[in-house]
Amino acid sequence: MALLPIICYPDPRLHIKAAKITSVDADIRRLAADMAETMYAAPGVGLAATQVDRHIQLIVIDVSADKSQLLTLINPEILSREGECEGEEGCLSVPGIYETVTRSAWVRVRALDLDGQPFELEANDMLAVCIQHEMDHLQGKVFVEYLSRLKQTRIRSKLTKLTKHVRVTA
Ligand code: NI
Repeated sequence: MALLPIICYPDPRLHIKAAKITSVDADIRRLAADMAETMYAAPGVGLAATQVDRHIQLIVIDVSADKSQLLTLINPEILSREGECEGEEGCLSVPGIYETVTRSAWVRVRALDLDGQPFELEANDMLAVCIQHEMDHLQGKVFVEYLSRLKQTRIRSKLTKLTKHVRVTA
């Protein structure tokens, strides 16, 4: 297994739409394992393939306190949703930024597992929020895009300053 580099907002690659996975093979299983290792090491509770620059519909999630409930979703689709819930979200691709986002409070999701078998899952609370957050990544959407334009501009400039320290005397 290997730790994968996570790309950070405002990297334009975060806005690439992920393609459906046509065959769940050994390469996909290896990528899923590497993504899980990367997520746990970060540490985070979810990671989409988009964030490691692989633009295919693959997500890993574990919202459990003891990191014992790894969930892998391939080609996930939301079948139904109910209610609203407000939560404070952060993202491994937007380090240090936490903002309130409104999401559906309950979702029913269909996906493929690592054997390529379809399954359905009902989720609420933190898991529902996390699934929606990660599925947005697959659509090329980062959670900060739910915020006001002003906030987005501030976040972009803050993160750009975080990664670039250039001082030129000329
Ligand atoms: Ni994220």
